[in-house]
Amino acid sequence: MIATTLGWGRNALLWILCLGVALASWRFMVGGVEATMGFVAYHAQMRPIAFFAHVVLAPVALALVPFQLWQGLRQRRPVIHRAIGRTYGIAILISGAGGLWLAITTEAGLVAALGFGLLAMSWLGTTMWGISLAMRGDRAAHRRWMIRSIALTLAAVTLRIYIPLSMALDIPFPTAYPAIAWLCWVPNLVVAEIILRWPKARRLAIA
Ligand code: HEM
Repeated sequence: MIATTLGWGRNALLWILCLGVALASWRFMVGGVEATMGFVAYHAQMRPIAFFAHVVLAPVALALVPFQLWQGLRQRRPVIHRAIGRTYGIAILISGAGGLWLAITTEAGLVAALGFGLLAMSWLGTTMWGISLAMRGDRAAHRRWMIRSIALTLAAVTLRIYIPLSMALDIPFPTAYPAIAWLCWVPNLVVAEIILRWPKARRLAIA
């Protein structure tokens, strides 16, 4: 009973966070980049292709996460699972390349550039490797690598939790931001590894 309630709560939270952050990320479509994400508006002016490829398509990947983790859909509608998986992969291929370029060119400093840059390469690597395993029919390894990919996609959510948290704790933005460029994804990967290695955690985490 408690496990079922926890499962529902966790699933609801996942849907709300993924869809909520994805929708909020598209706010520039309504209000414009300058007004809604002023601190990265320089990217939009200097490298519009990389910027818009990233901010349009990365939220697509994030919005698709709860669909791909939905066990019922995976089991009952494998054709839909594969179609969403291809869309997830293409969205990450393009937005990850854009994200890598934004990381290399960020004005947030070397530590942030390295954090985001390594995240972009890991995101591209885990996702492409995971999809290639599915195409070769290795479903167990495909699952493992897609869990790592999803942990990295969820960096978009953790980043947007840590930024307001750092503000609430009165940590100056120039100090907090480079640290968050690492904190938004390294702990996510550690949690993914725990889920992968500890069967009880896996049963709780994957619906
Ligand atoms: C996981 C790999 C990702 C990497 C490496 C990455 C990298 C970056 C970088 C470097 C920037 C510019 C920040 C700066 O220069 O200060 C940025 C901005 C942005 N990214 Fe990503 N990103 C990733 C995932 C995502 C995802 C999954 C989303 C989906 C919501 C997303 C949405 C955005 C948005 C909306 C911005 C504009 C600034 C903001 O509103 O926070 N990113 N990203």
